[in-house]
Order: sequence, then structure tokens, then C-alpha cells
Amino acid sequence: MAYETIIVEVEDHVAKITLNRPDALNALNSQLLSELVDALQDAQGNDKVRCIVLTGSDKAFAAGADIKMMAEKSFVEVFSGDLFGPEADAIMRVRKPIIAAVSGYALGGGCELAMMCDFIIASDTAKFGQPEINLGVMAGLGGSQRLTRFIGKSKSMDMNLTGRFMDAEEAERAGLVSRVVPAKKLLDEAMSAAQKIAEKSMVSVMAVKEAVNRSYEVPLAEGLLFERRVFHSLFATEDQKEGMAAFAEKREAQFRDK
Ligand code: CAA
Repeated sequence: MAYETIIVEVEDHVAKITLNRPDALNALNSQLLSELVDALQDAQGNDKVRCIVLTGSDKAFAAGADIKMMAEKSFVEVFSGDLFGPEADAIMRVRKPIIAAVSGYALGGGCELAMMCDFIIASDTAKFGQPEINLGVMAGLGGSQRLTRFIGKSKSMDMNLTGRFMDAEEAERAGLVSRVVPAKKLLDEAMSAAQKIAEKSMVSVMAVKEAVNRSYEVPLAEGLLFERRVFHSLFATEDQKEGMAAFAEKREAQFRDK
């Protein structure tokens, strides 16, 4: 598929997907979301890809869902067509890790898209927000749910009710982002984190993603049992034997995803 709203580059086992609607600050319209889902599914099916980096421009990761696309829609249209539902579900089904590299605005659906990734590395210029309240609506892609789990009720209510933006420093303090780096170093930092992940056993990597995500879905006792059983099951892999032997022999492990 030839893409018009995203750019995909595969380099050293990492697929870098760049949102590319500069005139609309990467606002998420149907075309962009469908291309993004296609590219993510492609990366999932490509054996050369071991990790994905999702990024935008210096000015905007994404300034939200496309307001102009939504403005005239009726309740029946958005409800019957399940606006954004299928794309969100497809993004959440990707089993390879996705790092969001966020510079500039990550607002509304943009902040929510970043939160659908596995972790967020932010540049010191990043600004996060759920300003949907200013449009007479509310978050629709996780801003009232994921953001609350990530930063707690008080800050989430503040963001969702006032529509204010949070800078990168506050976002790191609140637990929304994993690291903040100078804008110029953002992509290097995200690519180098992705390459580190790409060196691990893909079986463990996908198990970690599933287990951490499970912690948001089930009670603690169930999550701990799931984690322990997955931990046990990894002893069936050759990579477990290799990883532990390499430690004892003081050498780098050579994982083969087996
Ligand atoms: N949808 C459509 N177009 C958008 C957009 C969006 N979310 N955000 C920006 N744009 C467009 C602008 O309309 C403008 O286009 P024109 O030049 O054709 O007028 C262009 O991008 C540049 O934007 P600005 O001129 O506004 O740039 P700025 O630097 O002055 O302001 C901004 C930047 C503060 C991010 C401002 O653009 C803004 O407030 N954007 C909207 C943010 C927003 O409300 N996001 C939530 C969307 S709803 C949603 O996401 C629902 C959901 O949860 C699923």
C-alpha cells in the first residue's frame, strides 16, 4: 500500500512510522488511521521488524482527531459506524512493542494514540492534553480511561475538565512518559531504545507486553498468576537456556526467538 499520510522506514530491525499531515498538525482522519493500522499490521507480520517507533513532527505528534472531519457528523453516524473503534482495537492487537516518540503537541486523539503505544519518550517541547471539552465533547480514544490509570484521578480530571496542556516535565513527574530528552535527541533516543529491545528474545518481549497490559485488565491476584505462568512457560524456550548460559559464561546472549 502506498501511503500519503504516514512515512514508514525500516532500519536495523526497527520500523519507524512518522505521521505526516503537516498542514493539519497530523490530525487523525480516516485515511491516516487506516494507513497507520495497515503499517502496524505490516510491521507485525514482517520478520525483520522487532520493534516499532511511532513519531510525528517537531511541532506535533498529533493535534487530535480531525475536527473538520467530525464537525458535521451526527450521533447516529458516529455510533453506528463506531467512529475510531475498529482502528483503536487494531492498534491494541499489535503484539510487537511500540514506542511513541513525542515532540510538540499530543492532544486529544494524539495524546490517546501515544498512550496506546507501550511507552512514551517525550522531547522537552512536548505538550499533552485532552482539550475535547473545549469542543463540546469529551475524550473518545482512552483519554478518560488510560490517562486516569496512568496519572491518577485528580490530574486526569484536571486535564479532561479544564482542557489544559501538560508540559513534558509535568508529564514525566505524573508517570505519563518514561523519559524526557532534548528535542534534538528525541529520535536517536527512541531508536536506540527500540534497538535495545530488538536485541532481546522476541518471545520474552511479546510476553512482557502481554503481561504488563494484562495488569490493566484483571485483579492483582489474577495478574500475578498470569505473570507467574508466563514466566514458567518461558522455560520451554531455547532462548531461556541461551540467556542463562550466556550469563554464566560472561558473554552476550545470542537469542534466536526459539
Ligand atoms: N483537526 C483538524 N485540523 C487541525 C487540528 C485538528 N485536531 N489541529 C490543528 N489543525 C489544523 C488547523 O485547523 C490549521 O489548519 P489551517 O491552516 O487550514 O487553518 C493547522 O492545523 C495549524 O493549526 P493552528 O493554526 O491552529 O496552529 P497553532 O500553532 O496556532 O495551534 C494547536 C496549535 C494549539 C494544537 C491548535 O491547532 C489546536 O488547538 N488544535 C486542536 C486541538 C484539539 O482540540 N484536539 C482534540 C481534537 S478532538 C479528539 O481528539 C477526539 C478524540 O478524543 C478521539
